[in-house]
Amino acid sequence: MKLEINKLSVLILISLLISSCSNKTQLKFEEYNNHAYNQAMLEKVSYQLINQRVFIPKCISCHGVSGNVNLETYASVYGFIDKIKDVTILSHEMPKSPYSSLNKEELELLATWIQAGAPEKALGGVDIPPPVVEPLEAKFLSIQKNIFQNKCLVCHSPGKEAERVSLNTPQEMIDSPLEIVIPGNPDDSDLIFVISPTARKIMPPKKSGITSLKPEEIEILKQWIANGATD
Ligand code: HEC
Ligand code: HEC
Repeated sequence: MKLEINKLSVLILISLLISSCSNKTQLKFEEYNNHAYNQAMLEKVSYQLINQRVFIPKCISCHGVSGNVNLETYASVYGFIDKIKDVTILSHEMPKSPYSSLNKEELELLATWIQAGAPEKALGGVDIPPPVVEPLEAKFLSIQKNIFQNKCLVCHSPGKEAERVSLNTPQEMIDSPLEIVIPGNPDDSDLIFVISPTARKIMPPKKSGITSLKPEEIEILKQWIANGATD
């Protein structure tokens, strides 16, 4: 009998939780539908714009081509559009920490784009150009832009959880007591240890949800160290 009562209270608790969640969502949903959209913006928003202002800085380090939810191509984003609306505009579940939540302006842009039907090209015909892609090469600036900025600096920056380990300049990594970079010797460099798929404490940490480095990215880091790890 005692057990039955416990079961019952668990059930009540669960249903209370569920109903409070859906109420919250409904409220937000109404706000979203009654929102006064800026007509001029509705004609300007495009995939290109949202990709550069929202998906690239706030989503794709966790949602690359290899994951369940790929946010790196228009076709795939379009396929997930209802879910994207749910988890960003309605429930604010995404982006997950350590990434900061979408600010008002980002939310407004994303909501306007979805309201416009999530078009690939701006409905008004004038579109912003695609991002300039820096080629991935065994040079520090390219590595910083293509790898560190996307997958590491969100934690390895002043004020963030891994600020003690700086990836800011080649010299700081070389001077670090952790021997993060040993010029000419990638195999003994801590940087290469921590990104390898077999690392015990892999970087980025598994639980962060950020996708691991691709084999070609690991290769470039090794090459850069082998070549002397210069600026
Ligand atoms: C720090 C990592 C991280 C960031 C940043 C992030 N997500 Fe996620 N997201 C996850 C994880 C983990 C899941 C659950 C596992 C999965 O489905 O891939 C998830 C799930 C999702 C889902 C599926 C939800 C469902 O109910 O199936 C969507 C859609 C999504 N995210 C959209 C976004 C969008 C849009 C952004 C950027 C505004 C974003 N995420 C940023 C980690 C992240
Ligand atoms: C989600 C947060 C997070 C992300 C993202 C992240 N790291 Fe870390 N990293 C940490 C933490 C926390 C530590 C431990 C810091 C300390 O000891 O103060 C650490 C430690 C390290 C260390 C030193 C390991 C040792 O031997 O003690 C290296 C090198 C490193 N990270 C490289 C990277 C690289 C390269 C990336 C990107 C590919 C990355 N990290 C992404 C959180 C992160």
